Amino acid sequence: MNVAQALASATAELATTSPEPEVDAKWLLADVLDCELTRLILDRAKVLSDVQCQQYHDFIARRAAGEPVAYITGRRGFWSIELQVNTSTLIPRADTECLVDYALQLSLPAKASVLDLGTGTGAIALALAAENPSWAVTAVDKFAEVVALARANQQQLQLKNVSIFQSDWLDSVDGEFDLITANPPYIDSLDPHLAQGDVSFEPKSALVAAESGLADIHTIARGARQHLVNGGVLVVEHGYQQGRAVRQIMQDYGYDQVETGQDFGRNDRFTSAHWRVNLP
Ligand SMILES: C[S@@+](CC[C@H](N)C(=O)[O-])C[C@H]1O[C@@H](n2cnc3c(N)ncnc32)[C@H](O)[C@@H]1O
Repeated sequence: MNVAQALASATAELATTSPEPEVDAKWLLADVLDCELTRLILDRAKVLSDVQCQQYHDFIARRAAGEPVAYITGRRGFWSIELQVNTSTLIPRADTECLVDYALQLSLPAKASVLDLGTGTGAIALALAAENPSWAVTAVDKFAEVVALARANQQQLQLKNVSIFQSDWLDSVDGEFDLITANPPYIDSLDPHLAQGDVSFEPKSALVAAESGLADIHTIARGARQHLVNGGVLVVEHGYQQGRAVRQIMQDYGYDQVETGQDFGRNDRFTSAHWRVNLP
C-alpha cells in the first residue's frame, strides 16, 4: 500500500465518525511516517512498510472509535510550539491562542512576572515564555501528573524562564504578578457537549465546574486580587455564552477596565480585567 492508497482508504473509513476525515487521515499518516504533512503530497507513491501499515491501521481504528487525534499521536501544535499531550488534561485549543495573542499585546514591563493557573500541558505559559525570554513565568496545576506533563514540555522546549509546580489555584502561590492568565474548567456538568466528540475523551477535571461552570472563575477572580501588582492584569478564558457573567464577576470583585475578547469564530472567549491601583 502506498501513501495515496493509505490516505484514500483511511479517509473513507473515518467518513462517518470524524468531522474532518481527510485531515485526520493525513495527520495520523504523517505521524506514522514521522514527516511533515507536505511530504504526503510529494511522496504519494511511497510504499509503506508492514510495520507502518499496521501502526496506521491501529491509529485509524482508534480515531474511528472517537479518540482525539492528539491523544493518538501524543502531541499537538499550539502557537509557535509543539506540546506533548496525554489524557491527564485538556488538548490545547486553537481558540486559546487568541488569549495568548491578547496577552502578548499588553503593555507589560520588560521583565514581567506572569502566572498561569491550571496550566495543563503548559500551553499558555510556555507560549508566553517562548515569546518573551525576559519574562519570569510561573505555572501551576492541581494535579501531579499534569504538572509532570507541563514540566516535560518545558524541558523539551528548553525554556529556562518558567517555574511549574502543584497548586490548588492560588493556594501554594506566593508573590505578585504583572499578568495572571487562566483557562480554567468552565463547562456545566449537565452540558450535553461533554458526551460528544473529542471532549468526551478529556478529563472532567479539566472541563467541568460547579455554579453553571463559573465556580472556578469566581475562585480565580477573588484570589488573584492578592497576587496582582497595582495595575496588573487578569485574563481568563471562558465559554462563548459566559462573557456577560464573567464581566459581572470581575466588576463585583472590584476590577477595572473589564473587557471581553473573541476567538477565531468571533465568539466571546476570554475576559480581561485590571486590578486597580489602590488595594482595598
Ligand atoms: C481547561 S484546562 C486548561 C489547560 C491549559 N491551560 C490549556 O489552556 O490548554 C484546565 C486545567 O485546570 C486544571 N485545574 C482544575 N482544577 C484546578 C484547581 N483547583 N487548581 C489548579 N488547576 C486546576 C486542570 O487540571 C486542567 O489542566
